[in-house]
Amino acid sequence: MCGIVGYVGVKNASPILIEALKKLEYRGYDSAGIAVLNNDELLVRKAKGALKFLQEKIAKEIIRGSCGIGHTRWATHGEPSDENSHPHTDVSGSIAVVHNGIIENYSILKQKLQGKGITFKSETDTEVIAHLVHYYYDGNLLHAVAKALNQLQGSYALAVICKDSPDTIVCARKDSPLVIGQGNGEQFLASDVPALLEHTRTVFYLNDNELALIKKEGISFFNEELEPIEKTAEHVNWDLSAAEKDGFEHFMLKEIYEQPQSLLQTLRPRIVTGDDGLKSVNLDEIGIDQRYAQTPRVIITACGTAYHAGLAAKYAIEHFARIPVDVDIASEYRYRSPILNPADVFIIISQSGETADTLAAMRMAKKAGARIIAITNVAGSTLAREADAVLFTLAGPEIAVASTKAFTSQLMCVYLVALKFAQLKGTLTKEELHKYIEELEALPAKAQELLQNKEIIQRFAAKTFNKKKVFFMGRLADYPISMESALKLKEISYTHSESFAAGELKHGPIALVDTDTLVVAVCTQSKLFDKMDSNIKEVKARGATVMCITYQDESYFNKTADATVTIPRTYDELTPMLSVIPAQLFAYYCAVQRSLDPDKPRNLAKSVTVE
Ligand code: G6P
Repeated sequence: MCGIVGYVGVKNASPILIEALKKLEYRGYDSAGIAVLNNDELLVRKAKGALKFLQEKIAKEIIRGSCGIGHTRWATHGEPSDENSHPHTDVSGSIAVVHNGIIENYSILKQKLQGKGITFKSETDTEVIAHLVHYYYDGNLLHAVAKALNQLQGSYALAVICKDSPDTIVCARKDSPLVIGQGNGEQFLASDVPALLEHTRTVFYLNDNELALIKKEGISFFNEELEPIEKTAEHVNWDLSAAEKDGFEHFMLKEIYEQPQSLLQTLRPRIVTGDDGLKSVNLDEIGIDQRYAQTPRVIITACGTAYHAGLAAKYAIEHFARIPVDVDIASEYRYRSPILNPADVFIIISQSGETADTLAAMRMAKKAGARIIAITNVAGSTLAREADAVLFTLAGPEIAVASTKAFTSQLMCVYLVALKFAQLKGTLTKEELHKYIEELEALPAKAQELLQNKEIIQRFAAKTFNKKKVFFMGRLADYPISMESALKLKEISYTHSESFAAGELKHGPIALVDTDTLVVAVCTQSKLFDKMDSNIKEVKARGATVMCITYQDESYFNKTADATVTIPRTYDELTPMLSVIPAQLFAYYCAVQRSLDPDKPRNLAKSVTVE
């Protein structure tokens, strides 16, 4: 995710801003920029790529000034480029804005502003903020920012400077973190504590809908009505490396815990409410509209974890929209002789957008005339650039090699596609669609709730981490999750783990079951509980230990399983976004028990750009 920094004081701002941005590099970024106020001038420098390119620019065209803002961008709207980098400025070139988050109504605002004759320089959602602040500016920057915020829907942490308001930064937050560091005659701001620690440990955390007016002499806080509010300073007592991980021991655990937020980010911009109060899915960004109602088939290609999201998509799209779905591993697809029909919808899923086999499959399908829809987490990736349309997962950068939050966001995307097709084909009524969307909206809070079960999983991992074999089994929507769970466990704990459709138990896997076997039964498909219960009894009779993942209000498996890990109740079709989370935690704690670093598993790479 993007990083924001700010400085106002008496020192030269640009080196302080650059050093602070370096502390946020761990969050991932693809471009950077700063804006500094110097007397009557607003000076902006931006560069695509690593921070060193920005530093080179600043070395060539030195900028001085003791008040400024900076940003590392992780592209969501518009590819990584100098123009799309922050800070963004208004038409007069006197106001500069840095922003984290997503302005959901930016295209409507952009059209309105364009209607007033304003020309946009970038493809970003952020630029509307600069123009709006300018529109409302009448000599008071704080008032102008507050009025602009009233127009925004979505999430933001933002900082604004204006050449007519020297030595002043106005900042605000909603659903995106912002912290202000208090110094002596100088103040700092950042999206994340590591950027401040070199200068101060006295910080104020902004809450949602709060604003701050920062001057070198002091900081004033306001609520959204611009009434002054008191805030209490807090003392940071962590060190830098802990701060980068937000206090979590590993990035993987941090990313597992980010899932309530990332799921929300993926979902929110794609839901609209009609005049009848009923919710529906809007996927105009990938051009899926009424013309797609006759889609004869969907083809999905991906590798690794992304392939498992594709398998979950098959169950969801066939169930909700009654369209046949073929799912293929990209390395197979590219070398076999697949049959493509130009009317098929071709979806490529890849967290990085750089996986060599996935790109090869995409290029092959494109050559054969397919229209490619990419689901990826990385704007500016090769996949995002070469696909005909992109549905961004918006999960934020994933640093741990083993994918967690990107996977659940991929699942959210494929469910949105499934429901969109159902909407177009009329296989769900408007009321049914509304009901499922409301439940999707409830999932982030349910993910948050189930994360509170972590101790149960931690304790179970402590007892079972040295089992020789771990098998995951499930049926329907639980099957792809079993596959993903087995992959997570083998990736980071090096435990031999496999998965199978529970119905396949008798066709081979049961021969391997003995007292050294742990079986994890994913049991969220109510109509097949009796079948799963029989499977559990079969493996238990051969000496296996069984952990069951099921609903928290479900007692069906209490007598058969040795341990039960629960998820909050949801519709059986939607469980993958929840049921995978206990398995992610289980893999994580098994790796920790074995004293392994879950963030950097041996022999694996985050992005496999070679065959
Ligand atoms: C590698 C990673 C996996 C990932 C797979 C596909 O194997 O270690 O975690 O699922 O590549 O990556 P992609 O970026 O295409 O989703």
